[in-house]
Amino acid sequence: MSKHWTLDDIAWDSFDPSKVDPDLLATIKTAAMVEANASDYVTYLLNVFDGDDAFCAVVHQWGEEEKQHGAALGRWAQLADPEFSFDASLRRVQEDGFQLPLDKTESVRGSRQGELLARCLVESSTTSFYSAIKDAAEEPVLRQIAELIASDEVNHYRLFHRHLMRYQETHKKISLLERVKVVVGRINESDDDEFAFAYFATNLANKDGAVYDRAFCAKAYERNALGLYQRSHLEMGARMILRAFGFKSQGLVSKTILPVLWFAFQRRRNKLVA
Ligand SMILES: [Fe+2]
Ligand SMILES: [Fe+2]
Repeated sequence: MSKHWTLDDIAWDSFDPSKVDPDLLATIKTAAMVEANASDYVTYLLNVFDGDDAFCAVVHQWGEEEKQHGAALGRWAQLADPEFSFDASLRRVQEDGFQLPLDKTESVRGSRQGELLARCLVESSTTSFYSAIKDAAEEPVLRQIAELIASDEVNHYRLFHRHLMRYQETHKKISLLERVKVVVGRINESDDDEFAFAYFATNLANKDGAVYDRAFCAKAYERNALGLYQRSHLEMGARMILRAFGFKSQGLVSKTILPVLWFAFQRRRNKLVA
């Protein structure tokens, strides 16, 4: 992660308001909040990996890149919707939204390996998410931003995966059951407040009589986000997760699991639009 792109590398003058999709705009506003809130994750990871200088040295740069993702998406959302305030929404999210356990010195995943595996999961998800946005968006500036971010997310995945491999070489590898628990725990967190409140703060909070309804906001966000995916995007993220889990991304397990995942994904998506 040496030379990195900046907001000045984005061709803002090419912005075309006629190509903005309202559902995608709502998704981008939400994602901007979650990305911009990376400082708390940096604090949490520095606590959990205290004493691991090799890892702590790269966490700050990682956090800066995530914050920059938020800034780029936020600036695009302000162009697309001049009434949207990135700063005001972020303040609301930071004051009233999801809070990480910043006092913890042990990973909420049970171990450092579990934490690194969870980070690989997140970076796999964001890689496929921004790749899906790049392919779904018609607005050219958003396409450029999504492509830059997707490329960063792959690098973030490689970063956490490298450190996960280091821990597995120098420590006893966590069991299959512990790895499954990390994956299931992370998937269940998709229902938590982080995205739902960010969706509310950016899309609904300024409307008259707005009251936060977590289930409604979580569903609205998920419906919009899942609608962006093609099969190739889902499989890309799933292969990365399987590799972090310890399976070959082109092996028999992957070949067996991927069609099942696509089937389950489509069912979920159909249920959300029903
Ligand atoms: Fe990001
Ligand atoms: Fe990332």
